[in-house]
Amino acid sequence: MMTMKSALITGAASGIGKACAERMAQEGYGVVVADVNLPAAQELAAKLAAEGLSAIAVHMDVADEQEVEAGFDKMMETYGSCDLVMSNAGVQIVHPFEVYPFADWRKMMAIHADGAFLVSRAAYRRMKASGKGGRIVFTGSVQSFVGSKLKEPYNFAKHGVAGLAKAIAREGAEYGIYTYTICPSFIKTPLVEKPTPEQAASLGITEEEVVKNIMLRDTVDGVFTTVEDVANTLVFLSKDQGALTGQSLRLTHGWAMM
Ligand SMILES: NC(=O)c1ccc[n+]([C@@H]2O[C@H](COP(=O)([O-])OP(=O)(O)OC[C@H]3O[C@@H](n4cnc5c(N)ncnc54)[C@H](O)[C@@H]3O)[C@@H](O)[C@H]2O)c1
Repeated sequence: MMTMKSALITGAASGIGKACAERMAQEGYGVVVADVNLPAAQELAAKLAAEGLSAIAVHMDVADEQEVEAGFDKMMETYGSCDLVMSNAGVQIVHPFEVYPFADWRKMMAIHADGAFLVSRAAYRRMKASGKGGRIVFTGSVQSFVGSKLKEPYNFAKHGVAGLAKAIAREGAEYGIYTYTICPSFIKTPLVEKPTPEQAASLGITEEEVVKNIMLRDTVDGVFTTVEDVANTLVFLSKDQGALTGQSLRLTHGWAMM
């Protein structure tokens, strides 16, 4: 077993998580690429290794307690530390509220709520046991502050993770465990691009109108946030010494300003 700074990122096989995994590896962390999509996670870990960086891939369904604990055990076995954890895995399912299937609500809660709980608890246990503390970062959203048509479960869950971060910040402070919620507005990733046609159909508008009149309407400049914006923020937070603990950082191009 080696001992090096390490970061575990869930949902790291795609989009935001992937960009953050790449960046943390470049920053010198041993990175655990955790995702339900194991082939894509392995592909990223292999790419990073080929660049001379350190990464391993683990199959992790964040809604499965045993898989989460096993992934963290693998992290400790490989790197001997648990310094930074990003609870990031997520999906989007849109329906008009009155016909939103209970099964889809439950799926959203399993991934976003159970997943955030299981991943942050697993991180907390190991950070406390190490005596060194660490940083737990949740991927929230502008949807942690506003409401959006067709996204009731997503709004519920994203408001929830910001509260979870605040509570853990209080309990974890004495152990040097800091928590944060990064809250981006729309970023062009599969999570946003896949449901756009359904959203357009449900609202009776075109996909271009979804982009212009929904995704970017409330920004000050009509510009998408990017995965690099999130990765830059993660690096910034990885150096915080507690001044920002419990806070939600809004990367929203002016949408939902404080
Ligand atoms: N894209 C945006 O506009 C945006 C904005 C704000 C917040 N977010 C949040 O960012 C996070 C990442 O989203 P993204 O846009 O990068 O999406 P993405 O679809 O590109 O990536 C999500 C990843 O999560 C993985 N995943 C899904 N279910 C999982 C599970 N049960 N266990 C483990 N991994 C699982 C997928 O396999 C995928 O690799 C999500 O929490 C999302 O809600 C996205």
